[in-house]
Amino acid sequence: MKNFCLALAAVLALACSTKKEPMALGPYSEQYRPQIHFSPAKNWTNDPNGLVYHEGEYHLFFQYNPFGDTWGHMSWGHAVSKDLIHWEELPVAIQEYPDATTGDSTMIFSGTVVIDKNNSAGFGANALVALYTSHVHQNNRARVQHQSIAYSTDKGRTWTRYSKNPVLDIQRKDFRDPKVFWYEPGQKWVMVLVVPDLYKVQLYSSVNLKEWTLMSEFGNAGDRRRIWECPDLYQLPVENQQGKTKWVLSLSGSHPSGDDFVGMQYFTGDFDGHRFTTPDSAARYMDFGKDYYAGIVFNHLDKKIMFGWVNNWTYGNQIPTSPWRGAFSLPRELSLKEDAGSFELVQRPIDLATIRDDTRIDFKNVNGPVELRVDLNAANSGIKLVSASGDEVTIGVDTARRLLIDRTKAGRVDFQKQFASIETSKPLAQLPAHLHIFIDHSIIEVFSNDGEVAMCEQFFFRSTQFAIKPFGKAELKIGWRLKSIWR
Ligand code: FRU
Repeated sequence: MKNFCLALAAVLALACSTKKEPMALGPYSEQYRPQIHFSPAKNWTNDPNGLVYHEGEYHLFFQYNPFGDTWGHMSWGHAVSKDLIHWEELPVAIQEYPDATTGDSTMIFSGTVVIDKNNSAGFGANALVALYTSHVHQNNRARVQHQSIAYSTDKGRTWTRYSKNPVLDIQRKDFRDPKVFWYEPGQKWVMVLVVPDLYKVQLYSSVNLKEWTLMSEFGNAGDRRRIWECPDLYQLPVENQQGKTKWVLSLSGSHPSGDDFVGMQYFTGDFDGHRFTTPDSAARYMDFGKDYYAGIVFNHLDKKIMFGWVNNWTYGNQIPTSPWRGAFSLPRELSLKEDAGSFELVQRPIDLATIRDDTRIDFKNVNGPVELRVDLNAANSGIKLVSASGDEVTIGVDTARRLLIDRTKAGRVDFQKQFASIETSKPLAQLPAHLHIFIDHSIIEVFSNDGEVAMCEQFFFRSTQFAIKPFGKAELKIGWRLKSIWR
């Protein structure tokens, strides 16, 4: 009996040690911890990866360093949500792994997840299949980037790397960030990815997710001051035109203010199953703040909803947050508006009504996340956030009708010399302008005129309480306090 008990104890111990325990979650109440934006409990994160809606759950995978709070050991972190607002962080999904024979190590760079409904890859019907860039390096010196597969048959909880990886290799050091979607009219998978240093998007097709054929390339367009990364291709409805759609190719690269920073741009046009074409190859930017990058949209969801990484490579590794570094934007629903034959992106944050707190905001003493509706009735108007420690952020419109965020006096700005900045957008179509503003502990997102212009910026006041003060011809129409998504 004693031996039997010992054997049973050993079996139980083994079973427990192989079962993944949920992550111990942090208190999420640190200074600067976003309360309505997702951030991992600890450590470094960058791009959103593998956004997919599956069996009632939204999955957010993300570039993640399991071992530290700066970029390195890139792996896929993982979180799930039932409403796109409240998130539960799960254990790391796919982790960097070493190759003992060569001394190489493979990081899991950005990529995508699809649901393989028809078992085209042979991993099982409805298996989740991740396609990611396998970044092979030796002591952090890049050797090659190719595309690989991992799959999950348990709702994304555990992942197995495909034994015949990589599935796409053109022997280049820079070749990355696959986004894959099912193209129904052609009954095939389509992959977009970039050759970053050649400012090119390549389009491939496949019937089984394992063998890929080059269909076309898109380049020689837009802003090419910074390398191209993280492309995505999707079809969007054109507002007020029943049934009309257009295709959008978005990617990450240059920032509208110049090549000191990174940002996102997009092109609108057509996709015939092989090639993306646009009548207008001028650069159009997605967000005019400094902190919106690497955005992609969800797969297997009718609405096109995008998450961006709230940070900028220029200072990303230095922002004064701890024990985490990096967060994600509010989910934004995308559509298009036609204006004299050209198509402009419209971005609206998803409705946060379920976390609105009915108690009145005291605009003199704000201490927590808020959602505001502000009308600007003339140029040179806006609101100032003024903290008890005298730190200040201005959100407003300038004399050239451009939306602006000024964080030059925002308290902790000296951790990197380019952080203190005034950002301005393209000119707004009209004044008065209606602003929809979200202020979280260290993140501001502003949307003008129902999604016409978006700006996302980080700021780090020395004290958490602040007052909201209108100036010029600004009217504070409505304000809601928002409940923390962590409590
Ligand atoms: C974009 C990016 C991607 C790459 C990943 C690595 O921010 O540089 O191109 O896959 O980050 O972490």
